[in-house]
Amino acid sequence: MIRVQIPATTANMGPGFDTLGMALKLFNFIEMEETSAGLQIDVEGDGAEKIPRDSGNIVYVAAVRIFKLTGYEPKGLRIKIINNIPVSRGLGSSASAIVGGLVAANILTGNRLGEKELINLAAEIEGHPDNVVPALVGGIVVSAQADGEVKYSKIEPPAKLKCVVAIPDFILSTKLAREVLPQSVSLTDAVYNISRTALLVAALMKQDFSLLGMAMDDRIHQPYRANLVPGMKRVFAAAKLAGARGITLSGAGPTLIAFCDHNIDVIASVMKDAFLQSGIKAKVMELEPNPVGAVALEVMK
Ligand code: HSE
Repeated sequence: MIRVQIPATTANMGPGFDTLGMALKLFNFIEMEETSAGLQIDVEGDGAEKIPRDSGNIVYVAAVRIFKLTGYEPKGLRIKIINNIPVSRGLGSSASAIVGGLVAANILTGNRLGEKELINLAAEIEGHPDNVVPALVGGIVVSAQADGEVKYSKIEPPAKLKCVVAIPDFILSTKLAREVLPQSVSLTDAVYNISRTALLVAALMKQDFSLLGMAMDDRIHQPYRANLVPGMKRVFAAAKLAGARGITLSGAGPTLIAFCDHNIDVIASVMKDAFLQSGIKAKVMELEPNPVGAVALEVMK
């Protein structure tokens, strides 16, 4: 039986739309083993009731891609999914399913695909690389895609960087959160985001948290998504006032993530309260960046 641990991820990190992502210390587990016949999928944990148990399950879909590529046909398959990452909240739950399915199936078929192939497959299935690459390799990752190939560069998360996530009690599909985006943006807004993305990468590499407030600002997705997350601006303002270095939508939302190096408990509490003042119940968690990606924990055949 193969058991894979996959970290949650936060994508975009503000301005780095479809480009930047970071792994977090919150994990899903996926177990996979070959059986004599049939497909059995068990799901436990967050959102378990909503996860398909048939061939439409994304872990299975990802695994089948590996089986097809390697020409391996398991007689039957048992998959168990243990969800700790909230589903459809902007913390990379679908990326974790894709990555877990690929990594487990790759081990089951004799580890024939390398990291590069797994990354390209994962990005193709997910549609963008910013969650799947940090889920696979950990840390903070800058990814770029051309002709179906992903190139990435990993940055070690600064040791003092802590994150507070406020997870609203409603789901937001990435599909909907992408449909509200414009197909083109102005040159001014493009320059705004390019400058901040570059500044953010430099600030993280130099561990200069004083730049994060400006560097995590964005004009190409958050302004359009603000209406989908009631209280977003209020939570941003409250977290900054309480000492957060920067705050942004996590991925496509609705979770908001603050980057902090002090006052963590106070920041968590004001984020929860600010959401409540907007009529939204939210769960807050303090999470650290995770320097490593998906790990196969046990292989017992
Ligand atoms: N970059 C993606 C988005 C992340 O913001 O739509 C969500 O999967």
